[in-house]
Amino acid sequence: MAGGGDTAELVAAVSNAGGLGCIGAAYLTPEQIIERGTAVRAKTSRPFGINLFAPLETVHANDDAVARAVSTIASYFQELGLPAPSNPTPAATRFDDQLAACLETGVSLFSFAFGLLPVSGIQDLKRRGLFVAGTATTVDEAKALVENGVDAVVAQGSEAGGHRSTFGTAFESGMVGLISLVPQTVDAISAPVIASGGIMDGRGIAAALVLGASAVQMGTAFLACEESGIAEAYRDAVLSSSEEDTRITRAFSGRPARGIRNRLLADYESREDSILPFPLQNALTGPLRNEATKQNRGQFLSLWAGQGTRMARRTHAAELVAELTDELAKALEFPRAR
Ligand SMILES: Cc1cc2nc3c(=O)[nH]c(=O)nc-3n(C[C@H](O)[C@H](O)[C@H](O)COP(=O)(O)O)c2cc1C
Repeated sequence: MAGGGDTAELVAAVSNAGGLGCIGAAYLTPEQIIERGTAVRAKTSRPFGINLFAPLETVHANDDAVARAVSTIASYFQELGLPAPSNPTPAATRFDDQLAACLETGVSLFSFAFGLLPVSGIQDLKRRGLFVAGTATTVDEAKALVENGVDAVVAQGSEAGGHRSTFGTAFESGMVGLISLVPQTVDAISAPVIASGGIMDGRGIAAALVLGASAVQMGTAFLACEESGIAEAYRDAVLSSSEEDTRITRAFSGRPARGIRNRLLADYESREDSILPFPLQNALTGPLRNEATKQNRGQFLSLWAGQGTRMARRTHAAELVAELTDELAKALEFPRAR
């Protein structure tokens, strides 16, 4: 979970408890990736993972679009006491340098979202003994990832919190619920499927396994954990929201993502023409989101979360993994008991 939730404490606690903690490194520089990986390694000797966004084509926005986006966000900057926003310049970090840094951390799993990687890159990762997973929102994307050489496919259902990984079709066509996506993906590819989206407890894990998944990937459930690094206002929003409260928005990053509806998200629902493409919008709103985190102002944060927030619990990650394990065992007993 790129963006602050995934502290070294959370990643290591999940791995120590028997899960596979994962660093969301997409926004980290190579130096920060090594730092985070080293911090995780210091806290666990068990395997952990790192996730990056696949390299995207360079995007351009014309001067009018940039001026409109900058002027629309300006009043929020003012409200938080920030200097006026300037034209966005996305971080110059290159994917290849991030990947090279990942390899220096002793990581066991490399996963990616938003697209495909060069086949040679995937082969190189596998030669070095890493398990490689790519993210799909449709069956065709899953097939393309398998052709790309991945070891497993993360099937991201429309319930999922955070960015949509859709890359092979229109974003709207990639909004497929997990209960439809998992079995159809399992039927279509030979690689294991990791189900992701709205899974918050042992019942959800059991359901995914029954549908043919080999594992699950959970985000929102771990956001509320004590070890997660999100602002208190964000944690409160996760713990007090319901399945009705999330929306897909481009407001914060320029790429569709699911988050809890707050003032900024709601304001932008009628200002789609003031949003730049990813990663320009992400760079534009970055200072605002950082300041909102410092001031604990949830109305200006990207409150990424899935549709299962009623099931979120504030607890320690080790406790959550233990509870999930018990719940899974109970849920799998159910058909036998009938
Ligand atoms: C705060 C947050 C940040 C996320 N960041 C990433 C990321 O950096 N890379 C990625 O592949 N998926 C990311 N995701 C999506 C998750 O991998 C996963 O698809 C999603 O959390 C599953 O749905 P759930 O949140 O309902 O469990 C993020 C999700 C959340 C909630």
